[in-house]
Amino acid sequence: MSRLIVVSNRVAPTQEGRPAAGGLAIGVLDALKETGGVWFGWSGEIVGEAGEPVIEKHGNVTYATVGLSRRDYDQYYRGFSNATLWPAFHYRTDLARYDRQEYAGYLRVNAMLAKQLKALLKPDDIIWVHDYHLLPFAQCLRELGVANPIGFFLHIPFPVPEMLRTVPPHEELVTGMCAYDVLGFQTDADRQSFVDYIERGHFGHVSEGGMVHAHGHMFKVAAYPIGVYPDAIAQAAQQFSDRKPVRALREAMRGRRVIMSVDRLDYSKGLVERFQAFERFLLNAPGWHGRVSLVQVAPPTRSDVQTYQRIRQTLEGEAGRINGRFAQLDWTPIQYLNRKYERNLLMALFRMSQVGYVTPLRDGMNLVAKEYIASQDPADPGVLVLSQFAGAAEQLPGALVVNPFDLSQMAEALERALSMPLEERQARHADMMGPLREMDLSKWRDAFLADLGHVATAATVTRNA
Ligand code: ADP
Ligand code: G6P
Repeated sequence: MSRLIVVSNRVAPTQEGRPAAGGLAIGVLDALKETGGVWFGWSGEIVGEAGEPVIEKHGNVTYATVGLSRRDYDQYYRGFSNATLWPAFHYRTDLARYDRQEYAGYLRVNAMLAKQLKALLKPDDIIWVHDYHLLPFAQCLRELGVANPIGFFLHIPFPVPEMLRTVPPHEELVTGMCAYDVLGFQTDADRQSFVDYIERGHFGHVSEGGMVHAHGHMFKVAAYPIGVYPDAIAQAAQQFSDRKPVRALREAMRGRRVIMSVDRLDYSKGLVERFQAFERFLLNAPGWHGRVSLVQVAPPTRSDVQTYQRIRQTLEGEAGRINGRFAQLDWTPIQYLNRKYERNLLMALFRMSQVGYVTPLRDGMNLVAKEYIASQDPADPGVLVLSQFAGAAEQLPGALVVNPFDLSQMAEALERALSMPLEERQARHADMMGPLREMDLSKWRDAFLADLGHVATAATVTRNA
């Protein structure tokens, strides 16, 4: 059997009990634990000079991680990845900036990481690269003579061509992506955006089975929506329901309803609009004053990128203002916590809440939405209020789907969710558990790797013909 090599910028923490906030780390860790293999990426450390990878083995996963120099971190991670690609791919061109030197750093770090990985590779290895930090990675490996199958999965949205063209080196980036054997996206809309870019720019064409011929390469393009393990989550949520922090929240709420939100503190998550819609709900529905609180867990992320500092300040201001406006001596409308929690504990918090409030302005998938559903007690489940702009909305038809730019609609959805009869809640929950089980995390991994195996075999046959 071939060895699986996963490559991503962020690698999950190797110590137990240290939560990794972020869908990539959570999804890849769960998927890789079962197959075993190597996980190669950034150690999360800034070092004087990037050296050889540090190798550690935990269970059947070998971690190979490298530090980044301050300049690499600033240009590749903080700069081009998170101040250019992330905002543009989330349709926030107003927040995106472009700096040629940062882009040069992005290419340099991709080449450096490819060189480091090459030294660890065996001829039979299958390489699976993840996310926007590493768009040119396959091209870098091919330039070094690596002939192994290489697939790529994008965890974030792929923007429509007009949006992509706002990123100045868009053509070079897409050319680099064409060096992969399989390109995977979260949704069919993302896949279509990529195909539109290729076809409208006359870079190539798409044939049957999603095969793309472009820039002298043939590769597969498809959607592989990432999933979770719903039964394991349900079990964890139940088992952790008696843990101290969960009991503490239950006692503090004294029978009040809980609306629960959990996100990294990112401007793509629509946190400000969410707080404002909650405010509108309180204005429209005074009967709920003192009877419901919004609990928002949002650990800071990428806090040395300016746009993230701004969203944090704005949100603190909004939480303070709304609480000041409505709070009573024994009731705080918004509980806002800037911290990470152990994942199982979060699932138990989801289970004790009556509403999951997940309203990103744009999101590749949004695992929190799926975790919320999986955590519920089927006999008395909570209701999910979900943004139509999360990839998960395609798969969770039982949610109350809202437009996060429409505060009135979100406010109405909160009221409807809080008043929904038990039978309707049960029916909606059951409708969503089926697809969650069918399209779980192992399906995501196995479907992607099966396609990578087929395409790579076909490519080898063609090369040798
Ligand atoms: P993103 O990948 O953009 O952060 P997702 O919703 O897809 O968004 O994934 C977030 C993951 O990180 C989920 O698995 C969620 O449970 C986890 N997470 C989010 N916030 C926290 C937190 N405060 N503490 C621990 N884990 C968190
Ligand atoms: C999202 C991205 C991941 C990233 C994660 C956390 O899930 O898709 O690539 O790892 O956010 O962000 P960070 O910058 O801390 O790795």
